[in-house]
Amino acid sequence: MIIPVTTDEQIEITAALAKKIWNQHYVAIIGQDQVDYMVDKFQSTNAFTKQIDEGYLYFLIQHEEDFCGYLALVVDEAAEKLMISKIYVDADFRGLGLGKQLMDFAIERGREKHLKTLWLTVNKYNTNSIEWYKYLGFNVKEAIQIDIGNGFIMDDYLMEKPI
Ligand SMILES: CC(C)(COP(=O)(O)OP(=O)(O)OC[C@H]1O[C@@H](n2cnc3c(N)ncnc32)[C@H](O)[C@@H]1OP(=O)(O)O)[C@@H](O)C(=O)NCCC(=O)NCCS
Repeated sequence: MIIPVTTDEQIEITAALAKKIWNQHYVAIIGQDQVDYMVDKFQSTNAFTKQIDEGYLYFLIQHEEDFCGYLALVVDEAAEKLMISKIYVDADFRGLGLGKQLMDFAIERGREKHLKTLWLTVNKYNTNSIEWYKYLGFNVKEAIQIDIGNGFIMDDYLMEKPI
């Protein structure tokens, strides 16, 4: 089941999941210091609350009793684009089709709003996820580097898929 994140309690559940998943997955890719910095800046209770105020749409996915993944979307009606800002599934729950359910949900939201393109950025060394996006029909559009402060750079590919 996929539910919208609206209450403080749901935001806290999402932030706890984010901390767990980021520490599972990204330490090997970007190192502990950058994980700590990025979780605090982009994936914490404060960050999620601020993003939701700015219009980000957050969703949690549940498997049986457990919340085990989340999705964040940003609609750009003028550009007819939908950004997947975040899509994450806890390692203990991968391979069950939950990531695909979140992706299908994003595609449905985009089509409902008559948007034409789904896009996201992904770390260049996040190889499994890049392969997963390709499997789901995304293509690399360009490489981008974003300075996120404190001496850290996001070294990403921008990928997109028509919907
Ligand atoms: C990427 C991620 C969201 C995928 O979620 P998941 O729940 O494990 O994926 P699913 O079980 O829904 O996979 C759906 C399909 O993709 C296939 N698949 C899974 N991983 C794959 C991969 N690396 N390459 C190709 N296909 C893959 C599955 O076999 C399945 O195929 P099917 O529908 O034909 O049976 C999840 O692995 C994740 O959170 N990774 C770490 C965080 C991350 O990097 N997020 C992206 C940030 S940009």
